[in-house]
Amino acid sequence: MTERTIAPAPVAEPRTACPSAPQDGTPRWLRTYHRRERPRVRLACFPHAGGAATAFSRLSAALPDDIELLAVQYPGRQDRDGEPCAEDIATLARGAAAALTPYTGLPLFLLGHSLGAIAAFETARLLQERDGVAGLFVSAARPPAQDWQEPDLDALDDNAVVAGLRRLGGVSDVLLRNPRSRREVLRLLRADHNVLRGYHCDPHTTLTVPVTVLLGEEDPKNTLEQVREWGRHTTAGHTVEVHAGGHFALTERTGGIAPLLVRHIHEGLALGPAEPPAGLVRDIYLAGADGRASRPPTDLTTLQDAARTVMTPTAYGYVAGDAGAGATLRANREAFDRWRIVPRMLRGVTHRDLTVSLLGHRLSAPVLLAPVAAQSIVHPGGELAAVRGATDTGVSFVLSSFSSHSMEQVASAAGDQPRWFQLYWPSQPEVAESLVRRAEAGGYSALVLTVDSPHFGYRPADLDHGYLPFLHGAGLANFTTDPAFRAALPPDADAAAVRAHWAAISTNPGLTWDGLAWLRELTALPILLKGILHPDDARLALAHGMDGVIVSNHGGRQIDGTMAALDCLPAVRAAVGPTVPVLMDSGVRTGSDVLKALALGADAVLLGRPYQYGLALGGRSGVRHVLRCLLAEFDLALALTGCTTVADLNENTLAPSGPLPAGG
Ligand code: FNR
Ligand code: LAC
Repeated sequence: MTERTIAPAPVAEPRTACPSAPQDGTPRWLRTYHRRERPRVRLACFPHAGGAATAFSRLSAALPDDIELLAVQYPGRQDRDGEPCAEDIATLARGAAAALTPYTGLPLFLLGHSLGAIAAFETARLLQERDGVAGLFVSAARPPAQDWQEPDLDALDDNAVVAGLRRLGGVSDVLLRNPRSRREVLRLLRADHNVLRGYHCDPHTTLTVPVTVLLGEEDPKNTLEQVREWGRHTTAGHTVEVHAGGHFALTERTGGIAPLLVRHIHEGLALGPAEPPAGLVRDIYLAGADGRASRPPTDLTTLQDAARTVMTPTAYGYVAGDAGAGATLRANREAFDRWRIVPRMLRGVTHRDLTVSLLGHRLSAPVLLAPVAAQSIVHPGGELAAVRGATDTGVSFVLSSFSSHSMEQVASAAGDQPRWFQLYWPSQPEVAESLVRRAEAGGYSALVLTVDSPHFGYRPADLDHGYLPFLHGAGLANFTTDPAFRAALPPDADAAAVRAHWAAISTNPGLTWDGLAWLRELTALPILLKGILHPDDARLALAHGMDGVIVSNHGGRQIDGTMAALDCLPAVRAAVGPTVPVLMDSGVRTGSDVLKALALGADAVLLGRPYQYGLALGGRSGVRHVLRCLLAEFDLALALTGCTTVADLNENTLAPSGPLPAGG
């Protein structure tokens, strides 16, 4: 430690403590004080003005074994004192984001204290582009678009600055009494203040990760009203936590604040002790009891309106859009509404089991995320953010052939969570085979062959925008990374040639039932046909060696005026018998919808657009929010209907809307 250091001595850090620490003498932005053997989460901490990485050594020690703290070291101080201080926040954010990028494999939270909150906020903006951030904590800090009213320290003499420092705390008196260390404190403080004074943020700048605001009740610089405004800077919800202490409580009263951080981190990632999904309701009431929390809507039928405000018109049109005049889309919802639940009482519902067995896997709930193409148009993290949100809640993901990230990238983001691959059967057999082989190698445990889209439907929203994501390069990742696909192109093929080749081979309108034999022989993976509505097609699927069906009208995107998927479900179930896997999608929006579909014969449902709206609003955490809400509502619906397992649901659980016939 040099005498220029203004904070307590750094804990010696082994060279290996930071896997990404450059070995070539380039600046080291991150310090690790307590290396964790098996971290599940990382917390990157940004110091206050005049501060240094060491400010967080105490917090690092106070965290449990599953949370590893990385302290950001700004240039110009401690072991970086040979470098000039940064001249603006953007420089700090760029440096920190680059250093943190290798750590984004595990959930990464950012925590900024005072000026550090702004640096962390700007870093989060950069990292969320790559789905690199799970949440932001800001401590003792006003929101970015508010005037921080910082005095010009260059215009104040040293004594005045030191007097201000003594009032606020955070710097030891020993350092302020020693002339050399006092000079150093003032140098850094002035440099950092200038950075802050030069910072401006548009009031409409939003993150798509949740923000937790920490405020010391005796902080002389910030008020509750001021810090509440952080809520304007995220679409994924915010919480304000008022704790004991002043401006430096985070670093000085660490013992009181660390548990609060840990609770938010664990709750945010659902890492705490496993509890029934309905526990979400209690968590929300507790968090909201003091009116300091907000999150995206919990009524999932209203998500669409909220998401529209943050989506581009073309992306919104593509996701929300439907075929023709929308009759099928409406029919899907009306079908759910025609069925009413007839609950039974006094059946002892304390313990519920939501799990179901499907194709050899035990799913934690009878819900999967439906294959949805080109998710990068909704959120830069695309399918990576979505699959992580699904994995956080124990839900399985079905990856579209037309994804914006390759199936290998998605498999690695999914980790151990079961995932399926949806196949749009390309007309070039080598590419079809290559996609299937890659799905097998990537640990996808089932194939979903979508058969309702030999052509895309007539979709006025997209037609009016003249917009199809694929022709703008989104959703082609499985093809651009595919050796068989690339082999048919010259090595120097440009983006337009790639798109044209994709358009030529990506679908296969000539496919017939007889063609299925080829796929059946190609792979031992279970195959489900998606897009089945007619019971005879369900029978044909089985006759051609398929393992099950997904009753679906593609969310009303293909033909205007088809049957509602739910209305076809009982007939399909009757046609294939009780043991063949039958799933359904199209119109599922609530926990009661899940219950109704299961009571009418589905083994599980797939959710489409709602998780896209969650993705738009909050990336990974938005998807997690949607799933937690859906599962909580389903869990409660099950309990309130008098059921404790999915197997308890059957046709007696429901009745058509209207009076219940006399006699039961
Ligand atoms: C889809 N769907 C879909 N299905 C499929 O098999 N492959 C795909 O690539 C896509 N892509 C796609 C994009 C978008 C934007 C949407 C909304 C849907 C259909 C999807 O899997 C599912 O059948 C419906 O979304 C279910 O209906 P809801 O839940 O959206 O009403
Ligand atoms: C869609 C296709 C990709 O519905 O399935 O847009």
